[in-house]
Amino acid sequence: MQNYITEVTEEQAKKDLEFIANEMAKADIAYYQNDDPYLTDAEYDELKLKNELLEKKFPHLIRADSPSKKIGAPIKNDFAKVEHKVPMLSLGDIFSEDELIDFVKSVQRFLNTSDDIEMTSEPKMDGLSFSARYENGMLVKGATRGDGKIGEDITANLKTISGLPHFVNAPDFPSVMEVRGEVYMSKADFFALNEKQAAQNKKIFANPRNAAAGSLRQLDSNITKKRNLSLLVYTWGEVSDINWQTQAEFLQRVKDWGFPVNPYNKLCHNLEEVIDSYKILLQTRADLPYDIDGIVYKVNSLELQNRLGFLTRTPRFAIAHKFPAEKAITRINNIRVQVGRTGALTPVADLESVNVGGVMVSHATLHNEDEIKRKDIRIGDYVQIQRAGDVIPQVVSVVKEKRQQNLPEFEFPKFCPECGAHAIKEDDGAVRRCTGGLSCPAQAIERIKHFVSRDAFNIEGLGAKIVEDFYKEKILENPADIFTLEERNDGDDLFSAFGGLQLEQREGWGKKSVDNLFKAIREKTQIDLQKFIYALGIRQIGTATALLIAKNYISFENFKTAMQNEDIQKLLSIDGIGEAMAKDIVEFFKEEHNLKIVDKLLQYVTVKDYEQQEISNSVFADKTIVFTGTLENLTRAEAKALGVKLGAKVAGSVSNNTDYVIVGSDTGSKAKKALELGVKILNEAEFLNLIQTK
Ligand code: IVH
Repeated sequence: MQNYITEVTEEQAKKDLEFIANEMAKADIAYYQNDDPYLTDAEYDELKLKNELLEKKFPHLIRADSPSKKIGAPIKNDFAKVEHKVPMLSLGDIFSEDELIDFVKSVQRFLNTSDDIEMTSEPKMDGLSFSARYENGMLVKGATRGDGKIGEDITANLKTISGLPHFVNAPDFPSVMEVRGEVYMSKADFFALNEKQAAQNKKIFANPRNAAAGSLRQLDSNITKKRNLSLLVYTWGEVSDINWQTQAEFLQRVKDWGFPVNPYNKLCHNLEEVIDSYKILLQTRADLPYDIDGIVYKVNSLELQNRLGFLTRTPRFAIAHKFPAEKAITRINNIRVQVGRTGALTPVADLESVNVGGVMVSHATLHNEDEIKRKDIRIGDYVQIQRAGDVIPQVVSVVKEKRQQNLPEFEFPKFCPECGAHAIKEDDGAVRRCTGGLSCPAQAIERIKHFVSRDAFNIEGLGAKIVEDFYKEKILENPADIFTLEERNDGDDLFSAFGGLQLEQREGWGKKSVDNLFKAIREKTQIDLQKFIYALGIRQIGTATALLIAKNYISFENFKTAMQNEDIQKLLSIDGIGEAMAKDIVEFFKEEHNLKIVDKLLQYVTVKDYEQQEISNSVFADKTIVFTGTLENLTRAEAKALGVKLGAKVAGSVSNNTDYVIVGSDTGSKAKKALELGVKILNEAEFLNLIQTK
């Protein structure tokens, strides 16, 4: 970049500035209005930096529509507008420790001091910012940032997010108080949402940030309500009486008022501590349940903040330290085509190992055949790879300049590389599938692996390698065989002429490991309905869908009978299950081979009815609960019956004896009383969630 800046001519700079302004405007609209990014964050940041450096070198070329003058994108007309009396600003970016040191020095210089400057270090949540206005303790307005001066009215949507109090009753809560922070979606909720979207043939979100944006900016707040959004507070807007002196004090104060605040926020007393906080968070990043894209440092003292003031559109007292883009360039040594449990052929690139943001990467997914064609990826190519949202490494693009001459195009196999059966593309998708079914060893093995995996039967001791070996030796050919392992091992089985499998004789095994394995298997002969359904490995049925089915059919017998009779009315009425999914389920139960395995499994395994699980594990047993407001999914009578079934006492009014208040919409005095008494308040979604997951 530096070379380019030094050498660029005025004429070229003019052209480039125009190009950048257009690209960034396009990217802003894609990102802020359509929640569907057109550039990666790293590409966007690079353009932004280039623009900044060009403008510094040629200040007279600064365009009226320069990206340096804008925040976000012009707002859409769909929502009512809200004016921000105190503008919602953006932050300057830095990318290195050196720039951080420069930032601190410039603060000191501005304040004409060499004293240490206290600063807060706060994870930079990768979501979208919101502002929530309270008047006399009541939440009256919610808004997006928009262009910083005018945002969109998202009051109804914001109110559906659990954790944001609708009423705050505290003596030191200012009569006008705007809290600001970030709405985000956790990684887990993002994956669950995409699973559900895929099942309904709806839009798949590229990352949690887009999913959060798409979910928050819904005209129908009922949709927002169904998406699990979260939020955190980190700053304020208009306030009638600022009764705190530092940022750290503010963060403590909002926490005391009942707003969610990031537990990783830290007060640093000097530059060393600030640098340490960066290093620590960079390490912790991958383990956090949500995406962060950097750290925000803020001068702690409000007095100093006020002295420092603002540049055009960013404060001088705060800065965003972005994490390094997790990208690298490396060579594709081979492209392997794997066959999954449902026969899908998935190409995987074997890479020359390379360090990407602190993690060694030697494989990347290539998604499917079309993706390889679109990006024209060939074996031997140098490619740019990135880790998206910390998860799976992806190939971004081919570095064409580095391509060796005459590299042949990659030919996607038309036959299954595992069993040789024809692999065909179904009319609706990009995926090519092996038609070999369970006669394809890859599919059979993957099915067993899936069956024993954590969210299914979770059988410890049956790792991937063992499953593969057992399959090849015909010890395990399908999931039901797992439950006859013990009798076959001892030679009790009539058909084992050679005195049993004698697994303890295998290399690396012994009596103890075999006993442990059998014990682990025996422990799983009783299983929750949703886990059983998930374990079957029906196409498209992930954990979330399996749970929906379990909730609606209560027993496996019900479900199986309905599916065998192709009675799918009820199935289709479940929100989250569409035609395509129903078809896959029915197909599964039509296949003789599957039915045989299911019946055999049921000889050994007791599938617990959904209701039984609820009662035995209820967190509400012996608790006093109160329902108030209009519930969306349950009538009041149903809610009450459910409470009783869970072992709770359902009371009509809130008192000191109340353990939980479950609130719907239009809540009134009961919710307020609960707040006053400090009784735990749950919204309907949280209540239903608690019932499900325990
Ligand atoms: S403070 C005047 N604190 O980053 C300063 N912003 O690049 C206002 N963000 O628009 C922002 N975490 O959407 C602040 N702890 C944090 C943040 C944070 C994420 C976002 C926010 C802001 C953007 C600026």
